[in-house]
Amino acid sequence: MNQLVHPFAPAPALAPLAVQPAAPGTHVTIRGLKKSFAGHPLYSGLDLDLPRGRIVSVFGPNGCGKSTLMNMVAGLIPIDDGEILFDGKLLKDTTIGYVFQNYRDALFPWLTARDNIAYPLIRRGMKKAEVEARVEELIAQFEIRFDLSRYPYELSGGQQQTVCIMRALAPKPEVMFLDEPFSALDFEMTLFIRDKLQEVQLATGVTMLIVSHDLEDAVFLADQILLLTRRPTSIAEIVPFDLPRPRSAEVMSHPEFVRVKAHTLEVFKREMNA
Ligand SMILES: Nc1ncnc2c1ncn2[C@@H]1O[C@H](COP(=O)(O)OP(=O)(O)OP(=O)(O)O)[C@@H](O)[C@H]1O
Ligand SMILES: [Mg+2]
Repeated sequence: MNQLVHPFAPAPALAPLAVQPAAPGTHVTIRGLKKSFAGHPLYSGLDLDLPRGRIVSVFGPNGCGKSTLMNMVAGLIPIDDGEILFDGKLLKDTTIGYVFQNYRDALFPWLTARDNIAYPLIRRGMKKAEVEARVEELIAQFEIRFDLSRYPYELSGGQQQTVCIMRALAPKPEVMFLDEPFSALDFEMTLFIRDKLQEVQLATGVTMLIVSHDLEDAVFLADQILLLTRRPTSIAEIVPFDLPRPRSAEVMSHPEFVRVKAHTLEVFKREMNA
């Protein structure tokens, strides 16, 4: 039976919005994210928007859940509760790229560097000629001078990490995840990879999420630094960093870089002692 509502009855009070609407320009929407390990909560209802075509660096105390957050968004670790949407779509309908923390274990040792880069394209059923064209495009973009017919063990660490990044970019991801991409690189290689990531980001508009334990790396590439608290983890602060791109190494002595770095460190220290 239909319920009759008196025409002059006061309008029912609007229920409070249960879900926080996404900020304009959002690409990835995380709502009510929960994750516990062995009964100990790590995230207990995280809400976060990742802006489209921007680089967000995740920074926070040891063990606060930086990698876990990235891995949940990338679908590598299941979530206990909540919702993660990419432009309103599920992960399965989204192309992502992932660069693992340890490049030594990330490449397939039985494939040459070139075949590693081509692997995700072949898996998608792309035709051989198209695969070749895409790999050549990446070689030009990254100005590769080393021999890609070599196997990973024959390459330097920096070369292997470059191959990992090229492989992640091969299918033209909408979102790219990088877990500590500079942690095992020397300074020269760090500068090279930083430049390349910026170039790729400017050329393609890919949304990037980067975990870093190095404060300079975290700030240098970021449009936003996402500062996390200790467990149970929440957002301590989101610090914007707006210097124009491409940013060269000189940016590291720019007053705005110095200011943002100092502020980030201050929040980090506060969280460590909390
Ligand atoms: N599979 C697991 N089982 C149990 N606990 C886990 C598991 N994975 C992560 N943890 C715990 O969850 C917390 C967050 O781990 P995570 O690796 O995400 O932290 P992190 O911020 O990336 O740390 P680091 O700074 O060391 O890289 C840690 O306390 C860790 O011990
Ligand atoms: Mg980690």
